Amino acid sequence: MIRHVSAEIVDPAHHLTSFNADINAVIVGASGGLGNALVKQLNSADNVASVLALARGTEVGGAKTINSYINLLDPHSIQAAASYAKELFNTVHLVIVASGVLHDAILKPEKTLKALNSQSLIHSYTVNAVGPLLVAKHFIPLFSRDTKTVFAAISARVGSIADNRLGGWYSYRASKSALNQMVRSASIELSRSHKKLVLISLHPGTTATALSEPFQRAVPSGKLFTADYSANRMLQVIDQSSPENSGELVAWDGSIIPY
Ligand SMILES: NC(=O)c1ccc[n+]([C@@H]2O[C@H](COP(=O)([O-])OP(=O)(O)OC[C@H]3O[C@@H](n4cnc5c(N)ncnc54)[C@H](OP(=O)(O)O)[C@@H]3O)[C@@H](O)[C@H]2O)c1
Repeated sequence: MIRHVSAEIVDPAHHLTSFNADINAVIVGASGGLGNALVKQLNSADNVASVLALARGTEVGGAKTINSYINLLDPHSIQAAASYAKELFNTVHLVIVASGVLHDAILKPEKTLKALNSQSLIHSYTVNAVGPLLVAKHFIPLFSRDTKTVFAAISARVGSIADNRLGGWYSYRASKSALNQMVRSASIELSRSHKKLVLISLHPGTTATALSEPFQRAVPSGKLFTADYSANRMLQVIDQSSPENSGELVAWDGSIIPY
């Protein structure tokens, strides 16, 4: 459990008080339900100077927001986005990867082995695991080493192998397990050189966005979060996290989910 995560939402003005002032934040997947809510709340945080909102298309508002392009299927765009961040800020303090795919034109969550095909398995792995790790590769060199910095990738509880009691969703589950494993490896490697860096995977809770839309009817009433609520709780987890939490999969309420 990450201590001191409040049971309630906090005023977004008070987000990220454990960081030094003038945070340069980067949100990947800013056009999504959770990405958009994160950009909005970071705009309201007193400690945040700028938010680089990266997406494939849709731009996001906010006085502190700078919009730019990224497509996780195109490694060159990830490298170019990092070069742009360096040009803008020189140093970065917070990166949250809020992109992800569960269903799209290529991928449908598979219930059976019979439904598997290599294209959708590779697609989910590329967007959900490879992309976020390439973001880490290109953005972590921009992190300040003197002050608290956080790289957080939004994963999912269903990526936990220990927690898998229902099966199904082969591609999505496996891609999130791979993401968790790579975040863990990076946290071990970087703990030697970046003493103030926290690298974590986050579970946002089941949240009303386009990604969960086809499955929301199965969610018990009162258990479906708004994107604003989930973003608020994840920012609290990020604020309360420390390098000892690096490599963990942490839920919106601060609890640690076993791998
Ligand atoms: N909602 C939930 O209940 C829930 C639960 C557990 C975990 N999560 C995780 O939370 C994260 C955010 O999901 P969400 O609920 O906010 O879903 P969402 O509203 O569907 O947002 C998904 C985001 O991912 C972006 N994306 C997809 N493919 C991309 C690519 N190739 N390059 C760049 N961006 C790409 C989308 O961009 P476009 O707008 O361009 O498509 C969109 O911004 C995901 O990692 C998801 O797995 C969500």
